Amino acid sequence: MSTQLFRIQENLKHLKLYKTYEHLESLLEEASKENLSYSDFLDQLLAREVAAKKEKNIAMRTALAKFPFIKTLESFDFSFQPSIDKKRIKDLATCRFIANGENVIFLGPPGVGKTHLAVALGIKAVTEGYRTYFTQALPLIANLTRAYAENRIEERLKFYCQPKLLIIDEIGYIPIDRHGAHLFFQLISRRYEKGAMILTSNRSFSQWNEIFGDPVIATAILDRLLHHSTTINIKGNSYRLKEKVKAGLVKERETQLS
Ligand SMILES: Nc1ncnc2c1ncn2[C@@H]1O[C@H](COP(=O)(O)OP(=O)(O)OP(=O)(O)O)[C@@H](O)[C@H]1O
Ligand SMILES: [Mg+2]
Repeated sequence: MSTQLFRIQENLKHLKLYKTYEHLESLLEEASKENLSYSDFLDQLLAREVAAKKEKNIAMRTALAKFPFIKTLESFDFSFQPSIDKKRIKDLATCRFIANGENVIFLGPPGVGKTHLAVALGIKAVTEGYRTYFTQALPLIANLTRAYAENRIEERLKFYCQPKLLIIDEIGYIPIDRHGAHLFFQLISRRYEKGAMILTSNRSFSQWNEIFGDPVIATAILDRLLHHSTTINIKGNSYRLKEKVKAGLVKERETQLS
């Protein structure tokens, strides 16, 4: 390797231009073979480097988001769930609601795609550069309760307030005790008008009193959540049972849970 090539590689490493560093020799060969102008060569080199960095950042943010699975809007079959207005979902996919610190709430019975859509929007968010965190309601409340008992509640609330988008899945599957409800209220209150959230629940808003065991707290939570929000009410069949219906293991009417 020439001293110049070595020096270029050292400088690329110093500048953290790793993509170019790794492929320098082939890039130079390609450029001379194709007789590229200086500006074309620089243009291509920088475009590849920026694309590689973007990809790496997306992968990092995706790992930090702790999605339970990777599902996209492209793999969502809207024809199976006609109660969902595709245009509204497409509009949410622009991530404007995140920039504005607004909330999205998916309501509906089991298997209708609430978590799928929440994750899909979360993936759009990380692609757009927004720090995102996914959690189910139960571990979230358990973590807040433990942190409170250990005198670390401030630190924990800050943790949940850091992501630009916080996704809280499965509100309502299991009732939340009074103390947990108070801590949950504190979190909602802190994120109010600052950080966007996506929530999913199998219970209608009128049933949230039962989830939180206290109508005053439930109302205060809903008041803040719904102030700047979009609610997507999914009324339809469980997709999980679709394959079973096809195989004749379940009758169509048994899938109609709502
Ligand atoms: N319309 C759809 N198109 C493609 N896949 C779907 C659709 N709806 C649901 N699914 C798939 O079916 C499974 C169940 O969906 P999901 O987990 O989103 O349901 P859910 O509404 O969150 O249910 P639960 O309330 O039980 O958590 C997932 O694997 C999801 O990817
Ligand atoms: Mg779900």
